Amino acid sequence: MNLFITGATGFIGGSLAEYLKSRGHAIRGLVRDDAKAQRLKARGIEPVRGDLDSTDALLAEARRADGVINAASSDHEKALQALIDGVRGSGKPLLHTSGSSVIGDDARGDSLSPNIFDEDTPFIVEPDKQARHALDDRVLATPGARGIVLCNTMIYGTGRGLGRDSVQIPPLVAQARKSGVVRVVGQGLNRWSNVHIDDVVTLYALALEKAPAGAFYFVENGEASYAEIGEAIARRLKLGPVRHWSVEEATREWGEGHARYSFGSNSRVRAKRARRELGWAPRHASVTDWIRDEMPVD
Ligand SMILES: NC(=O)c1ccc[n+]([C@@H]2O[C@H](COP(=O)([O-])OP(=O)(O)OC[C@H]3O[C@@H](n4cnc5c(N)ncnc54)[C@H](OP(=O)(O)O)[C@@H]3O)[C@@H](O)[C@H]2O)c1
Repeated sequence: MNLFITGATGFIGGSLAEYLKSRGHAIRGLVRDDAKAQRLKARGIEPVRGDLDSTDALLAEARRADGVINAASSDHEKALQALIDGVRGSGKPLLHTSGSSVIGDDARGDSLSPNIFDEDTPFIVEPDKQARHALDDRVLATPGARGIVLCNTMIYGTGRGLGRDSVQIPPLVAQARKSGVVRVVGQGLNRWSNVHIDDVVTLYALALEKAPAGAFYFVENGEASYAEIGEAIARRLKLGPVRHWSVEEATREWGEGHARYSFGSNSRVRAKRARRELGWAPRHASVTDWIRDEMPVD
């Protein structure tokens, strides 16, 4: 297939571009930087110069492609609408990358939520996440095309493309390396579901091939608390005991969005539908094993 991917220089989109290229697809990738455009080209990915506000280019690329993957942003309304308009009425797949902070709570690290969601469970969406949820629904309702949402949990592992680092564990590690002390929000009792990037890309490939229109999938294969993740980081970096930060202290280091919705919340889901409907069989099951045994430390 001829595929158009946004976020082709990033962690998820870069990994998808490499994997799908290895499966014989031709990839055009959105890129906003000349140097990165050259690097994509050298990897056999055709760069499309522009950014998420380049509505005309997004529309044209979505129209000419056989399938579209939005992996640049879960929240950019204007770009997503252009991609929806580009595939409208064509029967083509549009895969949208969402994130499970959409069902995150405000635990501030101090409680374990009993709420575990799957695709059949009614969601509880905090007011701050309503806009993301509404965009997911808009993709699912794409007229005359296969609008599909992949709702990713905490992705770990090393990216296959230009973007090597994910968005949750690397900032925790960077803070620990800088200060010599691993910090988590509150007591770190809160849990997040997680998934390895190599399993994420196989699910996108399956969804591209055979997911029906309007399908929403959680992307998950295991879960861990932030206390457990912090402990694994401390062991990997040979540092002392994990210490605790309030949301306010954590906000000064990572910003409020990360402190509250990534590091302080619970986000617990089960990816039932992808296994049942697409035969997805993820192979990596433990984020803490990966941190302790494989996470790059230089
Ligand atoms: N990683 C996870 O665990 C995870 C889980 C769930 C959801 N998500 C969501 O998935 C999306 C992608 O995540 P990621 O981990 O792949 O992030 P990332 O590594 O930071 O990649 C983002 C990609 O989007 C591109 N991009 C961002 N803003 C752009 C703009 N205005 N115009 C053009 N390109 C733009 C970046 O280009 P540059 O290279 O030029 O910066 C990069 O290629 C984010 O919305 C993230 O919140 C991530």
